[in-house]
Amino acid sequence: MSNYHIKHLEEYYQVYRKSVRNPEGFWEEIAEEHFIWRKKWDNVLEWDFSKPEVKWFQGAQLNITENCIDRHLPTRRNKTAILFEPNDPKEEALHITYGQLFEKVCKMANVLKANGVKKGDRVCIYLPMIPELTYAVLACARIGAIHSVVFAGFSSNALATRINDSDCKMVITSDGSFRGSKSIDLKGIVDKALEDCPGVNTVLVAKRTKSDIEMVEGRDKWLAPLMAEASADCDAETMNAEDPLFILYTSGSTGKPKGMVHTCGGYMVYTAYTFKNIFQYREEDVYWCTADIGWITGHSYIVYGPLANGATSIMFEGVPSYPDFGRFWEVVEKHKVNQFYTAPTAIRALAKENLDYLEKYDLSSLKVLGSVGEPINEEAWHWYNNNVGKKKSPIVDTWWQTETGGIMISPIPYVTPTTPTFATLPFIGIQPALMDEEGKEIKGNQVEGRLCIKFPWPSIARTIWGNHERYRDTYFSAYKDMYFTGDGANRDAVGYYRITGRVDDVIIVSGHNLGTAPIEDAINEHQAVAESAIVGFPHDVKGNALYGYVILKETGESRDRDNVRNEINQQITELIGPIAKLDKIQFVSGLPKTRSGKIMRRILRKIASNDTSNLGDTSTLLNPEIVKEIMDNVL
Ligand code: WTA
Repeated sequence: MSNYHIKHLEEYYQVYRKSVRNPEGFWEEIAEEHFIWRKKWDNVLEWDFSKPEVKWFQGAQLNITENCIDRHLPTRRNKTAILFEPNDPKEEALHITYGQLFEKVCKMANVLKANGVKKGDRVCIYLPMIPELTYAVLACARIGAIHSVVFAGFSSNALATRINDSDCKMVITSDGSFRGSKSIDLKGIVDKALEDCPGVNTVLVAKRTKSDIEMVEGRDKWLAPLMAEASADCDAETMNAEDPLFILYTSGSTGKPKGMVHTCGGYMVYTAYTFKNIFQYREEDVYWCTADIGWITGHSYIVYGPLANGATSIMFEGVPSYPDFGRFWEVVEKHKVNQFYTAPTAIRALAKENLDYLEKYDLSSLKVLGSVGEPINEEAWHWYNNNVGKKKSPIVDTWWQTETGGIMISPIPYVTPTTPTFATLPFIGIQPALMDEEGKEIKGNQVEGRLCIKFPWPSIARTIWGNHERYRDTYFSAYKDMYFTGDGANRDAVGYYRITGRVDDVIIVSGHNLGTAPIEDAINEHQAVAESAIVGFPHDVKGNALYGYVILKETGESRDRDNVRNEINQQITELIGPIAKLDKIQFVSGLPKTRSGKIMRRILRKIASNDTSNLGDTSTLLNPEIVKEIMDNVL
């Protein structure tokens, strides 16, 4: 038990030093003491970032669902595992106990098996935040199928790309979804996607909105009757520690989305250990992460990390603004939430509203507040600290990524003194480095550079599905023997890290990573568009919003520009999803390019951000005159 729960700063430094001096010994002890394995490992770690290859707990066998469910049954059978809070506050919340979760997951696992899903098969899950989503994820893990959850806000096109990229043979979805006052026709989106997915032979459909949908004979099946008939017992498949557990897509700066592959053993150990410490979870606590399970935050810190600790984890179907802006606080009061984990974009949106929405509710149960997904600005940090935490609940600003599987840099609450906007110290076992553009490590404090990690941690993604070369190029080629995060950061006088944002062409809008390339492709598909470039610009709620520079084709005919703007956003919504819509679209006659033809996004970014005092040397551009035209017409 020694290192599992860190309680003061000295202990943090002590354990940190140990984890860095002898990572293998350290993680072996954690793995040995806190998880159940069917067979122990032959080797704790084998790694080589130049290949790149990382293997933790080679030779070990386990099933993560035994660690998340079965082992809790003797002591926590009647404890709530998942607390489902529906979109509509008038609908009753559902307390799903560990005993019930076991039955549901086994039933669903048996349904998957009966429908031909085998170990290693890929199953796409396209579900709203309803209990079936958790069952589906765990049912896949139970039988060794690889789940690929696609956030149910993505369009049919984006869904089809992801289904095909990993050859999913089954899709699990629902008739529809509720989001605030809206209901969305999810099944219709799936039907459209599947027109381009010949590999999918079965669609399981959960009932949620009871809307009228079409069921394709031979392909589509209602989930509920199948689960009702299925046996409530299903042996967990024996998995090797390095077998894939899931694929989760994330945007790259270029090209199609990257299917990050996480494996069973290391992912389990790291998400469980970080959850316990970073949220200081204790047995009776009620923990709430407001993310969607369609993102990594939901995978690691709604499902796997909490359940591996026998926690009570809230799953919220709704949105922060429905039925009004007090909803989060209403839920905190109602379920006496102890740990609350959300995104800066939500905090900023709520901070704009009247404080009455918050002050109506009793938030005294809160002990820890978390933030994730993008840098939290100072104002939002203070609002969160003053009004939600009443200056008593520490804020854990947790920096991490889909690729890292778990939280990497974060305070430990009640242990690490916090500084607004700083993610503070590396978590146990994490060895960050700041690099300069020449590839040298910048040592010492009060420095700024590109954030890399020097040594593997148990939950690092092992590859990109079907494209190991891209994995190497994206993460391991910028700096020798380092994992490159794509983020910039600085380190202050006491060694605290502050993440300053992406240094590549990924733009984070409301906490969602968006690559420029797919959005530009979507814009360029509009028949009137010749070329386009998008950049991010600061937005007071979303963090960043998208600004598009668009060159129209010269056809001689005049076009209503607002119509074109609407059509472009329509096109983006169809091809990617509404999260990628542009806030501003400026029509231009050209884009600033280098002599080799590369768009100078740096200049476009500055113009869009109204920060043109220091544009740098534009004379080396192929077309320097265009900069003035763009500046003169900026929106
Ligand atoms: C950004 C989300 C600043 C960062 C878990 C990273 C953050 C990207 C923070 C990964 C934070 C995440 N402070 N920036 N606390 N957390 N980011 O893959 O740019 O959806 O690279 O994973 O979000 O986003 P992803």
